[in-house]
Amino acid sequence: MSKTSKHAPKIICISSGKGGVGKTSFSVNVATALAQSGKKVLLIDGDLGLANVDVVLGINVRHTMRETIEEGRELASCLVEITPGFQVLPASSGVPEMASLSYEEQAFLTSSLEEIIDRFDYVLVDTAAGIGESVLWFNTWSQVNIVILTPDPTSLTDAYALIKVLATRHGKKHFHLLINSVKSKKEGKEVFDNMRTVLERFLQIRPLALGAMPQDAQVSQAIRQQKPFLLAAPESRASQEIMAVAQRILAL
Ligand SMILES: Nc1ncnc2c1ncn2[C@@H]1O[C@H](COP(=O)(O)OP(=O)(O)OP(=O)(O)O)[C@@H](O)[C@H]1O
Ligand SMILES: [Mg+2]
Repeated sequence: MSKTSKHAPKIICISSGKGGVGKTSFSVNVATALAQSGKKVLLIDGDLGLANVDVVLGINVRHTMRETIEEGRELASCLVEITPGFQVLPASSGVPEMASLSYEEQAFLTSSLEEIIDRFDYVLVDTAAGIGESVLWFNTWSQVNIVILTPDPTSLTDAYALIKVLATRHGKKHFHLLINSVKSKKEGKEVFDNMRTVLERFLQIRPLALGAMPQDAQVSQAIRQQKPFLLAAPESRASQEIMAVAQRILAL
């Protein structure tokens, strides 16, 4: 297939060292915000082991990536439209890690992904937590790497471990940090500054600040409603910060 006339989307990976820090919630809402500003957005549920974008959005998954890879079908048949301009490529529950896909299956997954991403302006990948094979693969595949952490000290050390592996073994040098669940702007800045100090001292990496999301009951309420909080509570503080983050992403 000719690559010359292809439109290249921006591929953005959303990861964290520690689990449960808000990757899926953030990804779904940033995707919604980017789509609201007229962009065509694809959100890939990169958690091949434990799907959760479909749960947060309350969508029924007809075909999963795993089945599609196994059956050699077009990945486009898996896409689910959430709002105009926002589509999801769901994963499926209970399937093994990327590492357990054969070399041929991995190659097929890569070429299938490259075929469907052309029609989008932004491709977001919501990865699993930690430093598993699929996490490293999706981060290497992406141009923009967002790492989410919270004020919880273990989240800082786990984020450091992830960044260290990506920097030392995969040549990644640019990271955008998103601090989630902060009680104040000041707390967000403190967490960012701590992380920056450690990254500069030990890895010679200067991270960029993408934003600080407030701890907001509307976020967990929206998850229970299986709706993006940007739609369920557009006036919430979380929605305001997501809009600001989306603007920063548009300016990248
Ligand atoms: N800013 C926030 N304010 C309040 N609660 C939040 C916030 N962000 C996330 N949460 C809560 O934290 C929980 C975990 O969020 P989410 O599922 O998005 O995390 P995750 O990083 O994707 O988890 P996993 O590592 O399991 O994939 C959710 O139940 C959500 O309600
Ligand atoms: Mg998740």
